Amino acid sequence: MINFKEVISKNIAEITNIDKKELITYIEIPPNSEMGDYAFPCFKLAKTLKKAPPMIANEIKEQYKENEYIDKIEVVGGYLNFYINKNIFVKDVMTEIFNKKEEYGSSEIGKGKTAVIEYSSPNIAKPFHIGHLRTTVIGGALYKIYKFTGYNVIGINHLGDWGIQFGKVMAGISLWKDEYNLSDDNEELINEILKIYVRFSKQEKEDETGEMNNLARKWFIKLEAGDEEAVKLWKWISEISLKEYEKTYNLLNSKFDSYNGEAFYNDKMQAVVEELKEKALLEESQGAQVVNLEKYDMPPCIVITSTGTTIYATRDLAAFMYRMKEYDFDKLVYVVGGEQQLHFKQIFKVLELMGYEEYVSKTQHVSFGLVVDKDGEKIGSRKGNSVSLEDILKQSINKVKDIMNSKNPDIENKEEIARKIGVGAIIFNDLSASRIKDEIFDWDTILNFNGETGPYVQFMYVRTRSILEKANTDISNIDNINLDLIKEEEAIEIVKLMANFEQVIINAMEKNEPSILTRYIINLAQAFSSYYAKYTIICEDKEVEKGRLLLTKQVGDVIKKGMELLGIDCPEKM
Ligand code: ARG
Repeated sequence: MINFKEVISKNIAEITNIDKKELITYIEIPPNSEMGDYAFPCFKLAKTLKKAPPMIANEIKEQYKENEYIDKIEVVGGYLNFYINKNIFVKDVMTEIFNKKEEYGSSEIGKGKTAVIEYSSPNIAKPFHIGHLRTTVIGGALYKIYKFTGYNVIGINHLGDWGIQFGKVMAGISLWKDEYNLSDDNEELINEILKIYVRFSKQEKEDETGEMNNLARKWFIKLEAGDEEAVKLWKWISEISLKEYEKTYNLLNSKFDSYNGEAFYNDKMQAVVEELKEKALLEESQGAQVVNLEKYDMPPCIVITSTGTTIYATRDLAAFMYRMKEYDFDKLVYVVGGEQQLHFKQIFKVLELMGYEEYVSKTQHVSFGLVVDKDGEKIGSRKGNSVSLEDILKQSINKVKDIMNSKNPDIENKEEIARKIGVGAIIFNDLSASRIKDEIFDWDTILNFNGETGPYVQFMYVRTRSILEKANTDISNIDNINLDLIKEEEAIEIVKLMANFEQVIINAMEKNEPSILTRYIINLAQAFSSYYAKYTIICEDKEVEKGRLLLTKQVGDVIKKGMELLGIDCPEKM
């Protein structure tokens, strides 16, 4: 595509003798197109050229070589406003989209580089509750976005499949196994295990003698020591939980390249402990082995607890070192909630002290806010009110089905369409605002077909498809389409947005912020809606119609690809 910033900066460079690369960074896009398509702020050059900005602007304007790309230049104060040639622009962008097809918007800035993205990572043997929605959805979107910018991406589910929660479940089973139906053919087996976990945790909290806690610890110590019975139970619980989790992953279309969770690092932690000792970083504190981080204003990082077991942090240190060797990553991204900020700060600091600052500098904790209800209360926080993610997704699908039953009861593939809309609505809502903010979970907003929502965007996509179907005009050869006829202001707005697609994806990747893409898709859908409200696409003049149809098709294609990168499918009908 023609890079207009490049064209403009090249010309200004010739006039001013200032480096083009510097100039290009100054070029702005005015807030509305009445002020031009691009603007150059001349005050940036005032110091170097030792002249007042308006004077510089006038001089550049006078000397600017006429070329086909720019229709008009205006001086406003210290600004130079450039009006580009719309015909060239439209033709250029639409031809590029036409030729690149599925690849439009992709780039190669990650070519030859590896990004490791860790996300979802639920604690199995505990419910997969709504608290893990955000990491799963944000991480899933980043996974696809990084791939589209050319990275070799490894998606890791760092399962919480080791740790004291297993001690609790095992202790609970040892106490109460006769009270529950734990036979392998019980379809609700996972729920029985969860009930035991919840019962044990509750009693443990209430138990002032500390005996319940001791019992859980004992089982975990057994597990770490490789006790046969404990290991067998652990395997059994892990398998059942994972099978259950897969149902949720299937609904969300989540994919991982590796399920190496905490247990995977069991035989890799000893080496880390040895290395810490060798580097004189470990010290004893109240019976535990810790890395003192006082100097850095942080509590100590516990590596071995006073009962001699390893801990969450130990496994994270081992995981980091493994990933360093195994993947030699250029980027490592942890998509984990804000509550764990201190944990990651500690881990990164310890790794720096160990001498791995180069890799630590390529690492980022991508944090996010809570899921809250309309009143700002954390969902699932009230006791006994744990909300399973699978239930929420199913609820959403059912709500959509109800709406469909009242509006379009005879539609084919109802189940499949309801799944795409219901699940898409939840994902879109999650990715709507900047990730660091709390996500407001409110059904009325999530499923509002007229709001800035997933269903709204899907509806716009379906509209583009139904227009094309209805017109039934051949637009498969761009050479037969007169793109000069596309000149309405609203249409140019759409083309401008579409021209930005690649850059938007790159920004979302660099900031690890899928909401940048979500916002963009909303803007594009709304721009199309305004255009559609004002102009009839299927019209008398068949030459005009062809251009409008191609524009319609391309809007649909870009929306669909953008949604796909967020992890959302668009139905063809709804
Ligand atoms: N399993 C943890 C939890 O649910 C999240 C794991 C985050 N990743 C990590 N490498 N520590 O809280």
